[in-house]
Amino acid sequence: MTDLSPLDAAGVDAAVEAALAAFAAASTLDELKEARLAHTGDKAPLTLANRQIGGLEPSDKAAAGKAMGGARAAMGRALAARTAELEAERDARVLVEEAVDVTLPTSRQQPGARHPIETMQERMCDLFVSMGWEVAEGPEMEAEWFNFDALNFDPDHPAREMQDTFFIDPPSSGLLLRTHTSPVQVRAALERRDSLDEGRGIYVVCPGKTFRTDELDATHTPVFHQIEGLAIDKGLTMAHLKGTLDHFARALFGPDAITRLRPAFFPFTEPSAEMDLRCFVCGGDDAACRTCRGTGWIEWGGCGMTHPNVLRAAGIDPEKYTAFAFGMGIERTLMFRHNVTDMRDMVEGDVRFSQQFGMEI
Ligand code: DAH
Repeated sequence: MTDLSPLDAAGVDAAVEAALAAFAAASTLDELKEARLAHTGDKAPLTLANRQIGGLEPSDKAAAGKAMGGARAAMGRALAARTAELEAERDARVLVEEAVDVTLPTSRQQPGARHPIETMQERMCDLFVSMGWEVAEGPEMEAEWFNFDALNFDPDHPAREMQDTFFIDPPSSGLLLRTHTSPVQVRAALERRDSLDEGRGIYVVCPGKTFRTDELDATHTPVFHQIEGLAIDKGLTMAHLKGTLDHFARALFGPDAITRLRPAFFPFTEPSAEMDLRCFVCGGDDAACRTCRGTGWIEWGGCGMTHPNVLRAAGIDPEKYTAFAFGMGIERTLMFRHNVTDMRDMVEGDVRFSQQFGMEI
């Protein structure tokens, strides 16, 4: 095929016609791009013809330039118009194809949820960490010495029987499943004696699993969770304990929460107290309140000033340092904070129970 001459009016017209036909025939933007390259690209007949203008007789240049200019303008217009059409078609198609039908049923596979005991434990720890306390952990299978002796339980102290204990066979192993998180107090203190020498005090919370030989029923479970707090420093008093507990209560139960201490007995604290929370449902004004059973107060945990013998067991001089401690059940806290009425719901692991607490991270 000989090259198209810019002076060949019929040839130029035919080339333009061919280009316009190809643009019109393109049914997608990709096809249009191909047609554009074929008819206006470097090797297209009209492009090559255009290049010849420079070599023409001066008298022919004007006519050739005009013809080529007209051809290019015609193709440019057609290209722009077809591009606009195809883009509009594509946009309309995308809108239809990518539309989301919000009325479709959701996936039947429900996402899981973290267990509320876990999230409650973390919420409690976070509060203390935000005050500069550390989180300490200890073993669930514990030495009898840490669980009882170091905590000032006499060998024949009735409290040892009171806490119905899973002992590990053989009895000579000296091991048991810890009946409370209090043994972690002694472990944490032993590990951190340097902090006292360095004047920093020891401030720890110890969350974890605890075990007692209870049958599983609506209000008991043989495996449950507690969180323990221990602060050892120079000059700590019961006022510090009360202030800490009030702060803890307000963080979990709102700005109006208040606590009350009642005299009690624990071998590892002296004085010892039971800690109650003002009923946050009725505020003490409803004799028929189901949360506090009309008493106005909810028992939350135990606390007190750490007994000097416990400090001595951890190698700490009770003449130099004083300490306070507290401990409460996590299940119990969840029960009254979230109105869970049956302990078994917290044990059975049915995801529908956990999901009600939302997906706290
Ligand atoms: N360990 C006790 C229990 O399981 C709770 C407790 C009471 C912990 C007083 C303490 C405390 O730290 O000072 O019932």
